Amino acid sequence: MPYAHITGWGMSAPEPVLTNDDISKLVETNDAWIRERTGIRERRIAREDQSPSTLAVEASINALRVANLRPTDLDLIICSTSSPEYIFPATACLIQDQLGATKAGAFDLLAACSGFIYALNMAAQAIRSGSIKSALVIGSETLSRYVDWKDRGTCILFGDGAGAFVLQASDQPGGVLSAVMHSDGSGGDLLSLHAGGSRYAVGESASPNGQHYIQMDGKEVFRFATRVMASSTHEVLDAAGLTLEDIKWIIPHQANIRIIEAAARGLKLPMDRFIVNIDRYGNTSTASIPIAMVEAVEKGQIKPGEKIVLVGFGGGLTWGALAAQWTGPMPSKGTVRPEQYRLFARLRSVLRRAIRFIEGLLYRREL
Ligand code: UT7
Repeated sequence: MPYAHITGWGMSAPEPVLTNDDISKLVETNDAWIRERTGIRERRIAREDQSPSTLAVEASINALRVANLRPTDLDLIICSTSSPEYIFPATACLIQDQLGATKAGAFDLLAACSGFIYALNMAAQAIRSGSIKSALVIGSETLSRYVDWKDRGTCILFGDGAGAFVLQASDQPGGVLSAVMHSDGSGGDLLSLHAGGSRYAVGESASPNGQHYIQMDGKEVFRFATRVMASSTHEVLDAAGLTLEDIKWIIPHQANIRIIEAAARGLKLPMDRFIVNIDRYGNTSTASIPIAMVEAVEKGQIKPGEKIVLVGFGGGLTWGALAAQWTGPMPSKGTVRPEQYRLFARLRSVLRRAIRFIEGLLYRREL
């Protein structure tokens, strides 16, 4: 059975920075409270011309460059997102088109902030089954567009960004070792975004009770999160036949520094075993784990051969963890420049539309 190795990684964060002081001009809050209660100093907010797919494409090109893989080599693209560009088409399909990943199947996965762990597990399983050889897994968000900037309980938390991993099959042991996924829909109301689905019509006038904003019972989500972070870490280690001593790094979902500290206490681990960058990005939902990992790898913190655990939780409720042995880029010949495929991808997209138009004319004549 092949192993699923993480061989490429990339991230993209919008340039505009929103500080705690900026938020204190919008709602009754202050920098000291936000830093003490959440660990967040600032977050990135997507520009108007940026979207989950454009951020994801930048992160993906970076990941493909590290993996030395062409977009046309990809068999599968999974985009985990809590703020998809549309209900459909899937954001993953927009990414497929912009990358020129001509052979890839593409779909979105919605498991709120646990989505990246779920998506990584799905892609790894597809590789381990032998049905595909390579996959691109993305977490990408512009959740700031769903934030109620009058609600101090939520607007301080969320930020925008994207992270992407390339997974490849190899006979060498390592890569993704085990994963666990859990859910409890009875807690769905604790963290939700109702409008835009089929129950509520879209738009402010059609959702007068703010269903188009993120709603959250922060205290309950906090309590749930502190419970599941430690338990799912233990569970995923048992599934891989490992213990905490085997693990060099824990990469937690970056939701609140106090949740991460509680997980550290629950696991009886010092905080320096946790990768943390919440101070600079806030909670970027599905993108938080890959962004934290990309920064840690690029700083030389996470090294090839080290064993790591990714652990997260989110709306749904959902939670999960994944254990892996960090691979680093695979040795390969030649230097691929995935960004060069973007022009080709744009031309191909225009051509495909033109062909469909002509086919439509011909087909109509046949009827
Ligand atoms: O990906 C999953 C995403 N969600 C989460 O991870 C959420 C988890 N929950 C949390 O992170 C925390 O519950 C929050 C950061 C949302 C809130 O922190 P807290 O320590 O649970 O605060 P609290 O709701 O218990 O509020 C304490 C006090 C209240 O005042 P009173 O009633 O004690 O007078 C709040 O009204 O702090 C007040 N407060 C604020 N004050 C200044 C709440 N939000 C703010 C604020 N600035 N932004």
